[in-house]
Amino acid sequence: MKVVLLGPPGAGKGTQAGRLADSLGVTNAASGDLLREHQRKGTELGKLARPYMERGVLVPDDVTIPMVTDWISAPEQSKGFVLDGFPRNIAQAEAFDAELADKGGIDHVLCINVSEEELLRRLSGRWLCRNCQSAYHEEFSPPQKAEECDRCGGKLYQRDDDRPEAVKTRIEVYLNETEPLIGYYSDASILRKIDGEAPIDEVARALMAAVRI
Ligand code: AP5
Repeated sequence: MKVVLLGPPGAGKGTQAGRLADSLGVTNAASGDLLREHQRKGTELGKLARPYMERGVLVPDDVTIPMVTDWISAPEQSKGFVLDGFPRNIAQAEAFDAELADKGGIDHVLCINVSEEELLRRLSGRWLCRNCQSAYHEEFSPPQKAEECDRCGGKLYQRDDDRPEAVKTRIEVYLNETEPLIGYYSDASILRKIDGEAPIDEVARALMAAVRI
């Protein structure tokens, strides 16, 4: 089962990807997390990506496409995967289709829809675990202990690109470059739209129902 989660910044892709992957018995990754991991390790790729990510614009395709295709080619992903944040433009989608052509292609693209007002509220209150990347929200899903992850005890932090100017750019980039993928995957008859404004457990159930159809 190969599933892609699409949606604007703050829609809940990261919150849902791990749950959906666990339910399906497959692995999951987010292209943003792979890029942040490179930054933490100080790799050349991480150094190259940093200025783009700080501004909230897309990292060049010649960096992201090989990074993600390497990840999906690893043996751990042989049973399938849930991928969050990739593809993010038509060129990435075409490269991804070519890569998966002899592996049966993508099974489902699930697009999580949330209004802009709600996205701003979610990103301004988001806290993430440095260790396992679990997402919390100071109002909607607070951790049991302040600044500590319920799942692994890791330290929680706020992302640099969640400041208001970068969030505004990320939403514009989504509308201009990523939203056209809705048409691309609708034409391929593998897209389903999910209401992302429902409570977290309800969104999880809707995603699971969508991949069972
Ligand atoms: P990336 O890390 O992918 O960020 P994003 O797409 O902007 O998405 P987010 O991680 O911000 O949001 P999310 O949808 O995962 O929301 P979350 O679950 O955390 O990308 C960052 C940067 O990396 C990009 O700007 C770009 O520079 C680069 N990049 C990444 N991929 C790339 C690619 N393919 N090509 C080029 N560049 C790339 O939820 C948000 C908050 O809401 C949390 O606090 C959560 O607790 C809360 N929440 C979630 N669901 C609900 C709910 N149902 N109700 C109430 N609260 C909720």
